[in-house]
Amino acid sequence: PRQIVIDTDPGIDDAIGILLALASPEFSIAGVTTVAGNIGIDTTTRNAGRLLAFAGRHDIPVVTGAAAPLSRPGPEPLNLHGKDGIGGVALPAPVRQPENQPAVEWLAELLLKEPAGAVDVFALGPLTNIAHLVLDKPDAAKRIGRIIAMGGVVYEPGNVGPRSEFNLWADPEAADVVLSSGLPLVLVPLDVTRRVRATRDFTATLSASGKPLASMVADLIESYFETSTHQESRPLHDPCVMLFALAPELFRLEDLRLSVSTGPAEEAGALTIGERGTPVQVATSVDGPAALDLLARTLTSF
Ligand code: BDR
Ligand code: CA
Repeated sequence: PRQIVIDTDPGIDDAIGILLALASPEFSIAGVTTVAGNIGIDTTTRNAGRLLAFAGRHDIPVVTGAAAPLSRPGPEPLNLHGKDGIGGVALPAPVRQPENQPAVEWLAELLLKEPAGAVDVFALGPLTNIAHLVLDKPDAAKRIGRIIAMGGVVYEPGNVGPRSEFNLWADPEAADVVLSSGLPLVLVPLDVTRRVRATRDFTATLSASGKPLASMVADLIESYFETSTHQESRPLHDPCVMLFALAPELFRLEDLRLSVSTGPAEEAGALTIGERGTPVQVATSVDGPAALDLLARTLTSF
């Protein structure tokens, strides 16, 4: 299996992504690093621990990351994912305490200990931790196999501003550092994640399987329906990172030179395609039904 670190702000769709990774024999999860985003750092860290406790994976460390963006005050929590950040689903308390080391130190140690290129980072939240790694531990950062990050929007409207997606908007300076770092990066923007949508029928199928991880994902999706009225389906943003790693053939990739706006308010995090800078790989379309089918098969066969 491929060694991965999941950098995350759970978050309902983060939680689904983490459960999908836990159910995938293709991945060996070296650790879960947390970041403030959907909700504050204490809650995202606790939620990561609760998910691992639910899955009985006390062997996987949770490591606390950045409490605030690189260089601007944290946004007011949007509370899109409920008061507990995870839709109020029933999860046990964490069993294992978070590591005594900050995420950036822990990540650097892991990357320096493992062969260069052996560890991938799946980024499901604001890119703050990875930006700190790039800035403070460049020799370790260079050893990342690749970063697959959910974030941004390229051709379509944003979800927090006209052209801004939440993860890049929440810490645009960090996004700028990571996108211009030259590290191998696949960006999975809203253009594709909006096309991987769970319906109530899909959710019912997961729950009917009676498998614990599949049923938990069904509960998470149900709670996600409650965060927004009159929706017939809900986008599964963060799990697209895992789905891309599992089945890249379901996605179309474009090499794009992107710049991130570090402007104020609604402009922050907006991406512009340009002529200069390092190209990154951007997933710009996906076979949504096939991706959903892979998610369901993985969860129900675990
Ligand atoms: C991203 O924002 C968060 O609310 C989700 O967890 C996802 O990572 C989607 O814009
Ligand atoms: Ca997230």
